[in-house]
Amino acid sequence: MAISRKVKKALEGASWVRRMFEEGEELKRLHGAENVFDFSLGNPNLEPPSSLKKALKDLADQPIIGMHRYMPNSGYSETRKAIAQYLVEESGLPFNENHVVMTVGAAGGLNVTLKAILDEGEEVVVPSPYFMEFKSYIENCGGEIRLVDTNEDFSLNIGKIEKAIGKKTKAVLINSPNNPTGVVYDERSLEKLGELLKSKSRELGKTLYLITDEAYRRTVYDGVKIPIHFHYYPHTIRVTSHSKDLSLPGERIGYIAVSPLCEDTEELISALIFANRTLGFVNAPALMQRLVAPLQKNSIKIRDYEEKRDLFYNGLKSFGYHLVKPQGAFYLFPKAPIEDDVAFVKELQSKRILVVPGRGFGKPGYFRIAYAVDTKTIEGALPGFKEVAEKYGLKGE
Ligand SMILES: Cc1ncc(COP(=O)(O)O)c(C=O)c1O
Repeated sequence: MAISRKVKKALEGASWVRRMFEEGEELKRLHGAENVFDFSLGNPNLEPPSSLKKALKDLADQPIIGMHRYMPNSGYSETRKAIAQYLVEESGLPFNENHVVMTVGAAGGLNVTLKAILDEGEEVVVPSPYFMEFKSYIENCGGEIRLVDTNEDFSLNIGKIEKAIGKKTKAVLINSPNNPTGVVYDERSLEKLGELLKSKSRELGKTLYLITDEAYRRTVYDGVKIPIHFHYYPHTIRVTSHSKDLSLPGERIGYIAVSPLCEDTEELISALIFANRTLGFVNAPALMQRLVAPLQKNSIKIRDYEEKRDLFYNGLKSFGYHLVKPQGAFYLFPKAPIEDDVAFVKELQSKRILVVPGRGFGKPGYFRIAYAVDTKTIEGALPGFKEVAEKYGLKGE
């Protein structure tokens, strides 16, 4: 075989999420899909808003001439204007359409951002546990990931971030609400992070970027107000998408928003647009850009996810599992009752329950549950979680 050594190595360390998903397909073949409780993949089970479906139908019935053609690499002006308007209302900062670049999902947006800012061998500091794809995205762009542990409750450990920042650092990448923990970083920790980045930028004599992956920004519970990350550090780049808030992951629509307070905004945005073009995305999907523009304040019924979280969290707690109550996203990240998370995940598989070992997110000894599934799948799985908890001597509350 003549594939690249780098890719070969990456393939050998294949994603645990994908591995579990594939094992799940085999279990489903053996037992029937309805008898397998699959919590492996974060794939929203809710349908997009009906207004989006209506707009799609209207567009098909009354097509706009040229609606399938190439466009500026940053995306349609109308869509970027609508997003900028939303950002102005949200943040009070003077965003305009030029601060927004439409991307092929948040994944595309992250690759574009990293490509635009990284030189070979530069480091991106990432709090862990973390979304494993970050490592590939950073390496795609010639960079290196520098992981730092979070605290016991998965909040940011500013001291550890401080120690990790050095001459090679180019950016810190945070993800809040977080995949896999569901944790939302609070105002206090963001203030400290902002202060740290300012002082480190001065000390190193260069501007460090804060990249915020906000793919789950609107997926928050308990009335939590997620802080506006732009307020804590001027050189902030938000990357997000409508994969989760409008349930459109297959449609690949997202955007990058550069803070108007960021240094050399014009040059940075030109670099982002260049990367969007030359990474081969060219532009974000045209049809989706039109459809999401008027839906900036809409989202699917987040309350549905909140109910699932409560059902799952309360169930697991009552069986004696140790876990942090997530305030957002649609994941739970409990501690495995035995050290070996892979062995524990296998044990759950014997009950036809599919989850992902914590080592798939840089945190062995834990496991991830993606609960954007039908409620009956959660109800069906809880007795299996209880049996396994009893086997390992967990004491319910
Ligand atoms: C933390 C995080 N970032 C980015 C993505 C990618 O999102 P998108 O589908 O918008 O590319 C995901 C998808 O699950 C995610 O969990």
